[in-house]
Amino acid sequence: MNEKATYIVMLGPPGAGKGTQAKVIAERLGLVHVSSGDLFRENLSRETELGKLAQTYMTKGELVPDDVTIAMVKERLSRPDCALGAVLDGFPRTPAQAEALEKMLAESNGRINVVPLINVPDQALVERLGGRWMSASGRVYHALNNPPKVKWFDDVDGSPLFQRDDDKPETVQHRIDVYKAQTAPLIAFFKSAGLLVEVDGTQDIDKVTEDILTAIGTAC
Ligand code: AP5
Repeated sequence: MNEKATYIVMLGPPGAGKGTQAKVIAERLGLVHVSSGDLFRENLSRETELGKLAQTYMTKGELVPDDVTIAMVKERLSRPDCALGAVLDGFPRTPAQAEALEKMLAESNGRINVVPLINVPDQALVERLGGRWMSASGRVYHALNNPPKVKWFDDVDGSPLFQRDDDKPETVQHRIDVYKAQTAPLIAFFKSAGLLVEVDGTQDIDKVTEDILTAIGTAC
């Protein structure tokens, strides 16, 4: 009998460290990192219709509609590199997306192993996103907490770093409000499924990784 594919769902507010942790956890476990935000940003940089549509929501800090988001992630998870599973970052983000994910996994012999919830207070989220620098490859830095070796350049490929349009203070606050209204209900959903593990996201990046790996080890 085939082993079920492993899916880890990173949950937490904007700036909690989902992307930072998902990248490391995926590398450690030999899984693919699938970020819905990165998929939208890739579409945006290629100027696809999906990218143009997503941009109208992203710049305002609103969620992109469920139907387009679910179709995009479903297509990504159907590719061969996801055969063993994936670390999901930014998806699901609404109850409808969570139900769609369960359906997708049921159809593909996959299962969610654990849902780490990274807890960080609002004030720290605003500070983190205000100082975040990104590379085109998706690597994430912070001006103070996690600086690159050379200011404004990626450690690995030397490409220039940039700040995201939706990291402006007024948009960040709205993204946090949207998270509380539309995504926080998933906490109860995954808790009742026995999958939620809360992690203190205010610790050093390495310690947060260690706690998530411990949670995954206990769940598997
Ligand atoms: P998305 O790209 O998913 O953004 P987000 O969820 O708002 O999360 P972020 O990427 O801002 O933060 P993060 O938790 O990954 O933190 P990071 O690791 O970067 O979504 C963007 C938009 O796309 C949405 O607003 C929406 O419009 C749309 N979208 C995406 N998915 C969607 C969906 N499913 N449905 C509908 N719409 C969707 O870390 C942040 C900073 O903190 C970095 O600078 C990092 O270096 C630093 N840091 C990380 N960990 C630590 C630590 N432990 N200590 C100190 N600093 C730390």
